[in-house]
Parts: sequence; structure tokens; C-alpha cells
Amino acid sequence: MSFVQDIQKEIDSTLEAVLQEQVPQRRGPLDKFSKVLRYALFPGGKRFRPALTMAAAKACDGNKGAAVSIGAAIELIHNYSLIHDDLPCMDDSCLRRGKQATHKEFDEGLALLAGNALLTDAFVVLSELPKRHSISAESTIEIINIIASCAGSSGMVAGQVLDLKSSPKISFPELEFLAIHKTGKLIYASVMAGALTGKPTQEERKALEKYGEAIGLVFQIMDDLDDAKSSVEQRTPEPPRASFVQILGVEESKQRASELIGESIKAIKIFGKRGAPLVELVELLGSKLPLNIQG
Ligand code: IPE
Ligand code: IPE
Ligand code: MG
Ligand code: MG
Repeated sequence: MSFVQDIQKEIDSTLEAVLQEQVPQRRGPLDKFSKVLRYALFPGGKRFRPALTMAAAKACDGNKGAAVSIGAAIELIHNYSLIHDDLPCMDDSCLRRGKQATHKEFDEGLALLAGNALLTDAFVVLSELPKRHSISAESTIEIINIIASCAGSSGMVAGQVLDLKSSPKISFPELEFLAIHKTGKLIYASVMAGALTGKPTQEERKALEKYGEAIGLVFQIMDDLDDAKSSVEQRTPEPPRASFVQILGVEESKQRASELIGESIKAIKIFGKRGAPLVELVELLGSKLPLNIQG
């Protein structure tokens, strides 16, 4: 089993345990609400962010159990963002991961609340790092601070605001700024929080910062390239929005992604063998290049 598949299983069972604890079986509307949460979380997507957390923990000789919990918490935040992103007041998307979006399968009120619950429950999981995994209070606070600030109004939410309110014709620097926030920040936090389960040196932190920033951006460029491929195949009609493909074109987008992949691999050379899972993940992202799409 590959590193990523292994992680997917561990993350899914941790998410299941979180649901069991946070939403114990109840009758009536709360029973339905636990179904909404399960529907939004399972079957999951790629679980790429938790994989990064575990890979960064490995590179820093960190605490594996803590990295699994942090990865699960980040996945809760990511899944909240997807539920809200699909709502009619946002992207108005009916489909997510090949099935009805949560608000379509249930209703908008329950979908909105499911997003709120997942976001909030993530911080319950994070606050339990000292008790469950013997992470120091100081490191726990730093981990929570990085994740909260990357998810909040100066991080992912800022990116969502820009995506919602920007014209599709924004400039390239504006688009990069948007992507760094909308997608890059939570990916960056996934890397840094994993590292903090160990004791990274200043040099190692700097290397992971570079890596996290670069692959955060690669992730959005690849997502845009994938969306362009889907629309060629007429799979996912999206409302028009700014994208790398639209602003740079397919070839230049691929080139920018390759450059960033190169930078990210170079940045983590200092970890030697311990950095292998981080390299594997960036290669997994890059393996979608070259894509079979028309320019
Ligand atoms: C999709 O994220 C939304 C973006 C931030 C680009 P993912 O591609 O990680 O979604 P899943 O979790 O694998 O479905
Ligand atoms: C979603 O971005 C980003 C967040 C939820 C933060 P998109 O709207 O571009 O992603 P998809 O295409 O719906 O997955
Ligand atoms: Mg969106
Ligand atoms: Mg969307």
C-alpha cells in the first residue's frame, strides 16, 4: 500500500472517531445532522493535506499520532470549506466528489451548520494534542495559531472573498495572491503544523515554508488545469471565474507549475531520506503534468 493510501485509511478512522465523540447517537434532527456530517466527510477526497502533515512530521522526526490528529483536524476545516463553497450563495455547485453537494442531498440550513460544526470541531481535536499525544502546550498553541490564521480572515477566507468578488479578468499577480490565500494557505499550514510535532531547526522551518508556499500554489494551478480539462470533456460547467488557464494559458500554467515543483523539491533537499514522503507528494501532484488538454 502506498504512503498516501495508508494515510487515507488512518485519517478516515480518526475522522470517524471524532464524529462518534462529537456527535453521539441521538434521536430526531441530531441523528439526521450526524448523517449530514458523515455525508460531507465520506467517502473522502484525496486527503492530500493530511498526507502533507504526516510527511512533514516524518521529515522532522515528529509525533506520528499527533500528525494524524492534526491531519484530521485540517481535513475537517477543508471539508467545511467545500460544503460552504458549493452553496448557492457561493459557487452554486450541485456536485462534489461525484455525488450531490451536501446542500442538495439535504438542505441549505443543514449544510451551512455542518460546515460550522466541522470548522469548530477541528479546534476541539487540536486542543486535545497535549492530552492525547503529549505535545507541549507551547507547540499546541503554535500549531493552532498557524492553522487558524491560515484558515481565517487573512487566509483561506480572504481568498474565498476575492474569488467571490473579483472579475475573471484580474491581473496575474492578483490571481496569484487570490490562489495563495484560497488554496495555498491551508496547504502551507498542513506542512508547518506537521513539522511542529517535531523540533525543526530554523533552517528546516525555512525549507518547509518554501516547500509549503510553492506546493500550495502548484495545487491551485493543477486544479485549474484539471477544471479546464473537465470543461473540454464537458463534465463540470462552472460559473466563469479567474483561473490560471484563463490568464496564463495551458502551456504557461504547466510551465509555472513545473518551476514551482522544482523549487519545492530543491527546498527540502536538506532533509535527505527523511524528506522522501514530501518529495513523493509533490511528484504525485506533478504526475498530472502533462495533461491531455487543448490550449
Ligand atoms: C478542492 O480541493 C478545492 C481546492 C482548494 C482547490 P481538493 O482537490 O483537495 O479536494 P478533495 O478533498 O480531494 O475532494
Ligand atoms: C475551493 O475552490 C476553495 C475552497 C473551498 C477554499 P474552487 O471553488 O476553485 O474549487 P472547486 O472547483 O469547487 O473544488
Ligand atoms: Mg470556489
Ligand atoms: Mg467551487
